[in-house]
Amino acid sequence: MSNSQRAAKPACEDAAGSSAQTTGGSQPASTEVPTVQVGAVGPKPDPRRVPAARDSQPDGANAVTEQVAMVEPSRQATHGLVELLPDLLAPGMPTELLVGLGEVYYGLGEQRCAQRCFERASTQSPNNADAVNNLGVVRFSADDPDMAEQLFLQALRCQPDHEQARNNLLDLHAAVPRLMARYWGQDVATAKRIVPSDASVSIALPPPELRFMNETDDSFHEIGARNLETLRYHGLSGATRLLDVGSGYGRLPIAMLRGMDFHGRYVGMDILPRHVRWCRDNIAARHEHLEFHHMDVRNGRYNPAGRFHADSYHFPFAERSFDMSCLFSVFTHMYEHDIENYLNELHRVLMPGGTVVATFFLLTPQRLGGTEADAVARTMGYELNENTRYRDPNDKLHAIGYDMNFMTHLIETAGFALSDVVLGHWAGGSGDTYQDRLVFSKH
Ligand SMILES: C[S@@+](CC[C@H](N)C(=O)[O-])C[C@H]1O[C@@H](n2cnc3c(N)ncnc32)[C@H](O)[C@@H]1O
Repeated sequence: MSNSQRAAKPACEDAAGSSAQTTGGSQPASTEVPTVQVGAVGPKPDPRRVPAARDSQPDGANAVTEQVAMVEPSRQATHGLVELLPDLLAPGMPTELLVGLGEVYYGLGEQRCAQRCFERASTQSPNNADAVNNLGVVRFSADDPDMAEQLFLQALRCQPDHEQARNNLLDLHAAVPRLMARYWGQDVATAKRIVPSDASVSIALPPPELRFMNETDDSFHEIGARNLETLRYHGLSGATRLLDVGSGYGRLPIAMLRGMDFHGRYVGMDILPRHVRWCRDNIAARHEHLEFHHMDVRNGRYNPAGRFHADSYHFPFAERSFDMSCLFSVFTHMYEHDIENYLNELHRVLMPGGTVVATFFLLTPQRLGGTEADAVARTMGYELNENTRYRDPNDKLHAIGYDMNFMTHLIETAGFALSDVVLGHWAGGSGDTYQDRLVFSKH
């Protein structure tokens, strides 16, 4: 959510019952009782500014707010309230009241008092996400972003759907590139360039040991964003039910969370258990509409000891469960009979009209005999049969390519209609992408 969107949240009711837009630029007049919500940090902390409205306050907080509303909100009264703090912090004060009291102090610009309340609240109830989040807000205001980050993360661990803690973390990362880089890349300049200021999610990136070919953060984001753009072009919307076969370490779902308002269903499947586990722990754990399945399917390159054969594997989903499916750089590592079975399974689990976007290395007469023949010979130098070539004699599934007519025939035989063919530049030529892409829909 962008800052401007956040500012458009409903105005909150102040303690005197009038409506006040808490995220506006103007300061409350000195004779007004300031609004007292804490919960979100702004891009730049302002000790007098009350950052954003909470949807609701606990009863205890309302009680405190009402009490304060009855006090003449002059400096003297504020001072009196500050003097009262030691009494108010008496042992036994319920956490909700401490949180509400802290919000009152914060609204009055008494950050040190607010901090003490939130500290007490989060010490006595470390799992209270409001208390921890609010302490983070105060620490951020006090120019301690590292501590604030830890607190927002802790609040999210206590309550993964805590909207304000999540937004605060995003604002913090947008304001402090050094911290943002930890999530979005090692290099701050790159992180700044690729992270939109209204990025909708912060997710740790997969660790180096999971990455294919030592992929850099930059490439991770760029390929994810490009694949997302392709799917959006072919109809992916916020409500789509998408099956991502061969989801790897989450390039696409992370790009989706960052790049669009996705509220449909995403299911990633892969044959690599560690990759699936990482995606579950780091993506699905925080986004329940995204899930990851491990399929223990054999593949000579990726999972040679797999239990099931790809040519007879049954996708664990009911008929017509999905609107769309994608296989980025997956059929480029599979034998023809395995692809044939996957096409049949895709047809079964997709809705009529459902679309598949898949990449391939396609062999065409032009590529085999024309000006691109040298490039094909270099990249796909070995022939498996009349329809199939591969790159590496020691690892046929490193990169395997198929005659284009043969592959489109397999696709049509499975019950799909081809709707788009985009040739990449792996064999030369001027394609935008490296691999080729076929797009087809279920009749
Ligand atoms: C080059 S990676 C691409 C990953 C992902 N699609 C992406 O673009 O980020 C190829 C992926 O295909 C997976 N894979 C290979 N054979 C598979 C099969 N038979 N079924 C499902 N996934 C497979 C591998 O485990 C690996 O994660």
